[in-house]
Amino acid sequence: MRVVEIIERKRDGAELTTAEIEYFIRGYTAGEIPDYQAAALCMAIYFRGMTPRETTDLTLAMAHSGATLDLHDIAPFIVDKHSSGGVGDKTTLVVGPIVAACGLPVGKMSGRGLAFSGGTLDKLESIPGFQADLTIEQFRKQLQEVGLVVAGQTHELAPADGKLYALRDVTGTVPAIPLIASSIMAKKIAAGADAIVLDVKVGSGAFIKTLEEAERLAQLMVEIGTRSGRRMTAIISDMSQPLGRAVGNALEVIEAIETLHGGGPEDFREHALTVAAEMLAMRRDAVDESHKERRRAKEALRNGAAWEKFREFVAAQGGDVAAVEDPRRLPRAAYIAPLTADTAGYVQAIDAAMIGIAVVDLGGGREKKGDPIDPAVGVIMHARIGDRVEAGQPLCEIHANDDARLAQAEARLRRAFTIGPEPVEPPPLIHRILRARPRES
Ligand code: URA
Repeated sequence: MRVVEIIERKRDGAELTTAEIEYFIRGYTAGEIPDYQAAALCMAIYFRGMTPRETTDLTLAMAHSGATLDLHDIAPFIVDKHSSGGVGDKTTLVVGPIVAACGLPVGKMSGRGLAFSGGTLDKLESIPGFQADLTIEQFRKQLQEVGLVVAGQTHELAPADGKLYALRDVTGTVPAIPLIASSIMAKKIAAGADAIVLDVKVGSGAFIKTLEEAERLAQLMVEIGTRSGRRMTAIISDMSQPLGRAVGNALEVIEAIETLHGGGPEDFREHALTVAAEMLAMRRDAVDESHKERRRAKEALRNGAAWEKFREFVAAQGGDVAAVEDPRRLPRAAYIAPLTADTAGYVQAIDAAMIGIAVVDLGGGREKKGDPIDPAVGVIMHARIGDRVEAGQPLCEIHANDDARLAQAEARLRRAFTIGPEPVEPPPLIHRILRARPRES
C-alpha cells in the first residue's frame, strides 16, 4: 500500500477501505508516515468528508493505536465526559468534582487548547504545581483514591490522536466532523469509561457552526459509542457567546472556584448542572433520570462536597491548594483595561471565536505547536447577547501583560460585538439532548 495513493483517493472523493485507514494510522503512529502526508490526508478529509463507516474505522484504529484501559478493578461503573470545544468552556473543572462528590468516579483524559478554544489542561496548569502528565499507573491510583483524575493524553493511550490533534491544530483541519468525532471517541474508548456524556458545542465559538452539523456530529459519536458497548448521551449546547464570563486560563479557574462555592455566572452554573445530572443519570437503567440527579448535583454544590473534592483532586495532582483557597495567589495580569461600547443599542451577536483568538493574541493560547502560554491573561465578558448597552458602557475587560498585545487584542475584540437598535432574544443554553444505550448483541 502507498500513502500517496490513499491521499489521492480521498482527494478525489473515494471511500477509503478499512485496511487503508488502519495502514495510515499504524504508519503515522509509528513515525513512518511523515506529518506532511498526514496533513495532506486531513485536508482531503476536511474537503471530502468520510462516510459513517470510514469514521468508525478511523476511530477504532486510533483507539487501538496504543493501550486501552480497563478500570473495572477500580470501580464497577466509570463515567466520562468530553466537550467538542468552545470558548470559556471550563465545565470539567466544576462537573468533575460534583459527579465525583456524588460517588461516581470520573477518570478523564483532557486536551490542551485547540485553535481558538481553550484546553482544560492549560487551565488546570495555571494552578502552581499542577501536574497533568500522569502515567497510567498514577491515573489508576488517583481514580481509586480520590475518585477524580484529569490527565493529559499519555503516549500510551490513543497516541495516534495525540499526534493528529496537534497536527490539525496548526494545519487548519480542526473543524471536520469525521476528524472531531474520531478524535473524541478514540480517546473515550481507549480510556475505558462505561458511559460517556458528550457536550457538543454549536455556534460562533465552536468548531461546528450550525445546529444541523452539530446534530450530525452528535449522532455519529453516539452511534460509534453504542456500537462499542458504551452508554451515550450527547448534549447539544449553545456556543454563540462564551460560556460564563471568564475566557483565559487562570481567569477560568477562578470562575470555576466561584461556581464550586455556589456563585459564578448563572449560565455556566446551569450548564454545569445539566452535564453533571446527565453523567449521574448514566448509572441508572432508565434513560431519563436526570431531573432527580440534578437535585443531587445542586446539593453537592450547596453543601461544599464538590468544593472539597476539587481541593482533594488539586492536591493529588501536585497543585498548590493555598492558591485555589485564595485565588488572588493564582497568576494575575499586569494590566486590566475595559473595552467600552461605541454606541448604544442591543448586543445582537458576539463572535466568540474572535474572543478566543484575542486571548491567543494576548498570549493565553498557542500559535504553533509547543508555544508557551501566559496563564494570567484573558477576557472577562460583561455584555451578553440580548443585553441593552449604553455608549461608554464596558462590553468586556481585557487582562494583559504586554502593551502591544493588549492593543492587538483590543482591536480584535471590538469587532467581536455586533450592537444594533433591535432587541434580540438571548439564545437557549441547551438545544437538544440525545440519549442512547448500547444495542444488545
Ligand atoms: N476535542 C477533541 O478531543 N478533539 C477534537 O477534534 C475537537 C475537540
